[in-house]
Amino acid sequence: MLNIAVMVSGGGTNLQALLDAQEADNLGPGRIVCVIASKENVGALGRAEASSVPGEVCRRTAFSSEEEYENALFAILDKYNVDLIVLAGFLSILSKRVTEKYANRIINIHPALIPSFCGKGFYGLKVHEAALAAGVKVTGATVHFVNEIPDGGAIIAQKAVYIEQDDTPETLQRRVMEQAEWILLPQVVRQFCEGKIKIVDNKTYITEEKQDV
Ligand code: GRF
Repeated sequence: MLNIAVMVSGGGTNLQALLDAQEADNLGPGRIVCVIASKENVGALGRAEASSVPGEVCRRTAFSSEEEYENALFAILDKYNVDLIVLAGFLSILSKRVTEKYANRIINIHPALIPSFCGKGFYGLKVHEAALAAGVKVTGATVHFVNEIPDGGAIIAQKAVYIEQDDTPETLQRRVMEQAEWILLPQVVRQFCEGKIKIVDNKTYITEEKQDV
């Protein structure tokens, strides 16, 4: 069994995709042991509760230093014996101390094809606004490992979504979620939990040989 913590800041539709996959027995040996929100009252916490998954809040501004915040986060992760952290619409940037402690054990979903429309400041609708402003014809979603560089860790999987002539940032956001994010994230989480993701020189490969987590 691998214990998964999902970190969230918003409505939690990607969390829902993971909860649904778990319910359908599609996360392999992975199970979601807690949902950690960056603030109180986010929609994702309601989804966790509805699935009887414990919810925790760890709010950066509740602590007087980054170090105290990190210690509180580590305490939650230790409490649930977490093996894999999934950032699913988590809006804060994790510090190097966190990404190094959980190196190759944190994954994030980004709603564009990295290295396009990513990095600091590219979140939510801003990503889709930028894709439409650039006039690209294809966008999509990327699941990647998290390191200290925002959206800079090794890419694990990508799924393309075609842009339509009458797309708005809102319609595009919805289609990227439906056609890419909600499919890709549970799939990668399962592959991770089954030990099928291999990393060599900051590049990932999917393998049938079991890797150590
Ligand atoms: C998604 O578009 C995800 O790719 C991005 O933030 C959004 C979160 O949406 N990182 P939700 O909270 O999962 O509905």
